[in-house]
Amino acid sequence: MPFAIIVSHVASRSIALARLATTRAREYNSARAFPNLPDELPDGYSDVPAGKIASVVTYLQAFERPPLRPAPTNHSWTLRAVPEPSVDWYRDLFHRIGDDWLWFSRLTLTDEALRSIIQDPLVEIRTLRVGDRDDGLLELDFRVEGECKLAFLGLTAQLLGQGAGRWMMNRALDLAWARPINRFWLNTCTLDHQDALSFYLRSGLVPFRRQVEIADDPRMTGLVPRTTAPQVPLI
Ligand SMILES: CC(C)(COP(=O)(O)OP(=O)(O)OC[C@H]1O[C@@H](n2cnc3c(N)ncnc32)[C@H](O)[C@@H]1OP(=O)(O)O)[C@@H](O)C(=O)NCCC(=O)NCCS
Repeated sequence: MPFAIIVSHVASRSIALARLATTRAREYNSARAFPNLPDELPDGYSDVPAGKIASVVTYLQAFERPPLRPAPTNHSWTLRAVPEPSVDWYRDLFHRIGDDWLWFSRLTLTDEALRSIIQDPLVEIRTLRVGDRDDGLLELDFRVEGECKLAFLGLTAQLLGQGAGRWMMNRALDLAWARPINRFWLNTCTLDHQDALSFYLRSGLVPFRRQVEIADDPRMTGLVPRTTAPQVPLI
């Protein structure tokens, strides 16, 4: 087949796949996935009260398994399954990874509420081991049939920027599609690592929804130390 025809064939297939992804994204953006669609925010600036933080949350998804991307092979990382994590172990890791990014969602939960999530047989928690230390968190939530939500993906500060995130994301895709799913999704917000959104876009996930989240600043409520995340000023 002449080169020009091959290029045109590949281009039309890519366009068709992109259209399919957009159509399916619209379906998922409908009442089925989000029954309580919020009112639209007004155009312009909205005040955020002192003591609160605000972020823009982007949702991304894939309906077919994206190809794995190259990741380092000359490393000593392993992924350890933690079938019944204790709340103390989980909170310690969540703090060590998430405080820098003001992760708070799991810190507001009672022991019982947290345990009911992290010990659910349909929630898979794995940790990236470096030597005898747990330095990464991968949490996959299969509680909705046919779906996998990547609930958390994160590394402690000393592991950032070495390819461990890509390696762990590849493991996440392997684990997700080891089950009979037809949708993989996650969200990331502007308080997360500055490269997190582009990392997920490069992972082959398609953005389909954006929200604004307002919450108590966890440094003001004592959930995380006051000195964490200096990139987000305390107001
Ligand atoms: C999101 C997160 C897991 C990504 O990990 P990271 O360490 O920043 O990114 P990595 O270094 O693994 O990967 C970035 C790129 O550099 C490449 N890379 C980096 N070091 C490399 C190396 N030594 N050899 C080969 N490739 C390397 C990776 O392959 C990857 O390439 P690609 O994205 O084009 O495929 C990480 O930023 C993180 O934990 N952030 C804090 C928590 C957070 O914000 N989580 C997201 C919220 S949902």
